[in-house]
Amino acid sequence: MTRSSAPGKVYLFGEHAVVYGEPAVPCAIERRARVDARRRDDGKLRVNSEDLSLNGFTVEYGANPDDQPDVDVPQSLVSAAMGYVDGAIEQVREVTGEADVGFDVTIESDIPLGAGLGSSAAVVVAAIDAATRELGVTLDTDELAERAFQTEYAVQDGQASRADTFCSATGGAVRVEGDDCRSIEAPDLPIVIGFDGGAGDTGELVAGVRGLREEYEFAADTVEAIGDVVRNGEQALADGDIEELGRLMDFNHGLLAALGVSSRSLDAMVWAARDAEAYGAKLTGAGGGGCIVALDPTDETETALSFTPGCEEAFRAELAEEGVKRLE
Ligand code: MEV
Repeated sequence: MTRSSAPGKVYLFGEHAVVYGEPAVPCAIERRARVDARRRDDGKLRVNSEDLSLNGFTVEYGANPDDQPDVDVPQSLVSAAMGYVDGAIEQVREVTGEADVGFDVTIESDIPLGAGLGSSAAVVVAAIDAATRELGVTLDTDELAERAFQTEYAVQDGQASRADTFCSATGGAVRVEGDDCRSIEAPDLPIVIGFDGGAGDTGELVAGVRGLREEYEFAADTVEAIGDVVRNGEQALADGDIEELGRLMDFNHGLLAALGVSSRSLDAMVWAARDAEAYGAKLTGAGGGGCIVALDPTDETETALSFTPGCEEAFRAELAEEGVKRLE
């Protein structure tokens, strides 16, 4: 058996706009998905997870995609999680040339699903890494990130950027613009996360922004303005200017809200952080529900969030220097 883990991430800047070629800066955080993979010779894929949702589930089905998984939890939940695991194992079969191999896969994750912290990317990166190593193949980080991106791209119907998967594979802060992905220096950031207990539908939210952008020139301009904020943010990161980073995060949140991807609970958490005098705050990821990220070296934002209606959990997150970790 092999075991790998990969971190989740927050977007300091640039989600959604990155889908249209603008730059984005995600940053890996020390919340991880861990995946165990054990080879099966009968070609079946058996997935066991206690943590992908509040309901634990186990599914087992064959390499034939027409086989229906045998499960007793909502099909939508299973389809979402299984789509990513299934896609990851397809990549493993392709890259190793073992077209008929099966696996027992066990997933543990402390990253809430669909909440803007890159849960699916972390599961996909860790699954591809563990399953390829189980077959005696170790991918370098670039190939791992590429295979993980191909998985997300297919599951999200071609509406995925490389940002989540590259960041999860390499760790640290990264800059993504189209196909160009690289690690960048970041100061020690006082990251606080607020989570509303919910999740957004990434596909729907991305499609919503696409529609607005096609219909209104000012929406296309808003997407470009996010790109400008990101470029300013890169300079602030390079200068270690946390005050300026916060101001730009506030601006980025306003532009995302204009594109319709915020929500009442995300806005409430952003305002709670601002009232607590955080340097800045914004939603992270696709939006619609899920998490905000704030910068605050004091306990004020965490305390304010814990009293904010709609906020289920507030926690501090360390930057994850390391991306994928090979544990066994
Ligand atoms: C989702 O985590 C981030 C989006 O920009 C989509 C993507 O980059 O694939 C909304």
